[in-house]
Amino acid sequence: MTIVLGIESTAHTFGVGIVRNGEILSNIKKTYVTEKGGIIPMEAAKHHNRFKAEIYSEALEKAEILENKIDAIAFSQGPGLAPCLLEGMKFAKKLSKKLKKYIIPVNHCIAHLEIGRLTKTKNPVMLYASGANTQIISYESGKYRIFGETLDIGVGNFIDNFARYSGIGFPGGPIIEKLALKGKKYIKLPYKVKGMDIALSGILTNLKQKIESKKYNLNDLAYSMQETVFAMLVETAERALAHTGKKELLLGGGVACNSRLQEMCKIMCKERKAKFFCPEKSLLVDNAGMIAFLGEIMFKSGIKENNLDKIDIMPRQRTDDVEVVWRK
Ligand SMILES: Nc1ncnc2c1ncn2[C@@H]1O[C@H](COP(=O)(O)OP(=O)(O)O)[C@@H](O)[C@H]1O
Ligand SMILES: [Mg+2]
Repeated sequence: MTIVLGIESTAHTFGVGIVRNGEILSNIKKTYVTEKGGIIPMEAAKHHNRFKAEIYSEALEKAEILENKIDAIAFSQGPGLAPCLLEGMKFAKKLSKKLKKYIIPVNHCIAHLEIGRLTKTKNPVMLYASGANTQIISYESGKYRIFGETLDIGVGNFIDNFARYSGIGFPGGPIIEKLALKGKKYIKLPYKVKGMDIALSGILTNLKQKIESKKYNLNDLAYSMQETVFAMLVETAERALAHTGKKELLLGGGVACNSRLQEMCKIMCKERKAKFFCPEKSLLVDNAGMIAFLGEIMFKSGIKENNLDKIDIMPRQRTDDVEVVWRK
């Protein structure tokens, strides 16, 4: 029996999750939100520092686990905002020292992908649509390869930025989804797909100009933005399915909570006879359950460290930097 505790702190969310033999026993988190404006990294880091002890106790309590039963501590090493990552790592090191347990550094993006195993997908192409990251990922020859990605900003940050410009606080995605349901008229926007890559900053500028002109209804803009940008995501994901010959699409990341994006992916999969998988919402947004889940898989494959000086954060770590030894 293995018990792994995971810590998530890459950006707005601080979380602690506990996994035993692939089962998530607890997944507690607290997210930094704003009324207006975006995330200020130092403020988010302060938020994490303030709530970490409380979240840790709550996670142990919910899992009904005593801390001395934990076999290893996994934490999000990157990519993410450095001040936020540091809070998570400091906490992980403190626990590792106190409990005399191994530490396991986990790549946040790969955790979003691996948690898909709970949906029973085996070898998917993943459309990973989160705040900071937008990538089409799939396993090939020892690594999770990035087949396509955003050439500028992540789709969640893009939507949050559009929302902020319209006077909506962080995170803007869920509110924009509601407004889009009320949209009636499709307003033409630029469509930027290059092979399996996409670009979003030009569309953002175009949307900002439209908001400034005051000639457009916000519901219509939200609707048109979703239809355009989600079509771009689905097109690139479909191209990756065709290219790899794989028959499973896994949707993940916070933007995957959007029902319209899920619906568009389902339609595409049905048309090309692929299977569609999407984890439940609490596992789509940033959470520590997925960090503990991947941490346990890595731990069982022999990845562990007890020299804390060797461990550091990696704010710019890329999905394809990681040797995926646990899949061999
Ligand atoms: N229903 C939704 N529709 C669109 N975007 C959403 C929805 N729910 C959450 N999001 C977006 O998901 C993002 C957060 O996802 P998450 O995976 O936690 O991001 P990251 O790991 O990059 O910090 C935010 O940009 C938020 O606006
Ligand atoms: Mg994330």
